Amino acid sequence: MLRVDNITASYGVSQILFGVSLEVAVGQAVALLGRNGMGKTTTIRAMMGALRPSSGAIHFEGTRIDRLRDYEICRLGFGYVPEGRRIFKHLTVHEQLVAFGRMRDGKQQCTPDDVYRLFPGLAERRASPGGLLSGGEQQMLAIGRALVTSPKLVILDEATEGLAPLVRERIWSVLSELKSRGLAILVVDKNVADVMALADYAYILEKGRVAWSGAAADLRPDDDAQRRLLAV
Ligand SMILES: Nc1ncnc2c1ncn2[C@@H]1O[C@H](COP(=O)(O)OP(=O)(O)OP(=O)(O)O)[C@@H](O)[C@H]1O
Ligand SMILES: [Mg+2]
Repeated sequence: MLRVDNITASYGVSQILFGVSLEVAVGQAVALLGRNGMGKTTTIRAMMGALRPSSGAIHFEGTRIDRLRDYEICRLGFGYVPEGRRIFKHLTVHEQLVAFGRMRDGKQQCTPDDVYRLFPGLAERRASPGGLLSGGEQQMLAIGRALVTSPKLVILDEATEGLAPLVRERIWSVLSELKSRGLAILVVDKNVADVMALADYAYILEKGRVAWSGAAADLRPDDDAQRRLLAV
């Protein structure tokens, strides 16, 4: 479904990615792991068209996307939950879920009401402006906004960072429900145990390169080499 082939990318003169390759298959949950500053967000920004790779290629469902604009990429079926959430402060929860809504195949695959069913805590806050939400509510809204776009692939960058345990659990259980419905998921997260429970496959980045990849079941945080890569 998504294939990233040997991409390199730089911010100005500093090269950040040195040949990253990864794949997400239809219906698969894939984890992108690694310590701080290893290039996870940069890899995702390159997929989303926020940063143009200097070499390599990215394909989504057979279409080459690494020369497309970010809004064109979104329209192909990417639901993006960025690091830092980027919630609109003055629009209410419901307004944001309506504003982001998009159809695919003539139908909105996930409506605001579906989002409220997945996150009942958000339903209670539907009339609240984004700026008044707690961190957990903002994160649920950020995920909801990605879902109402009817994505084929959802990409989450540190979606559970800094949240209370109950909210984190809710998010992981929603992701596992979405996966069981056939949605493909690419997740960046520091909580390796939670990611492992969801993901089928994992990549660990180190300094802009894939240092390890394999079935999530083969991730062994007790293994010295992997512990060094993950800093757990
Ligand atoms: N806008 C930018 N301009 C210049 N350098 C940047 C920029 N954003 C990130 N970097 C650098 O690129 C490298 C990779 O950053 P990136 O954000 O991709 O890492 P990450 O793996 O997502 O880390 P984290 O776990 O902290 O989110 C870091 O050295 C970072 O300092
Ligand atoms: Mg990051």
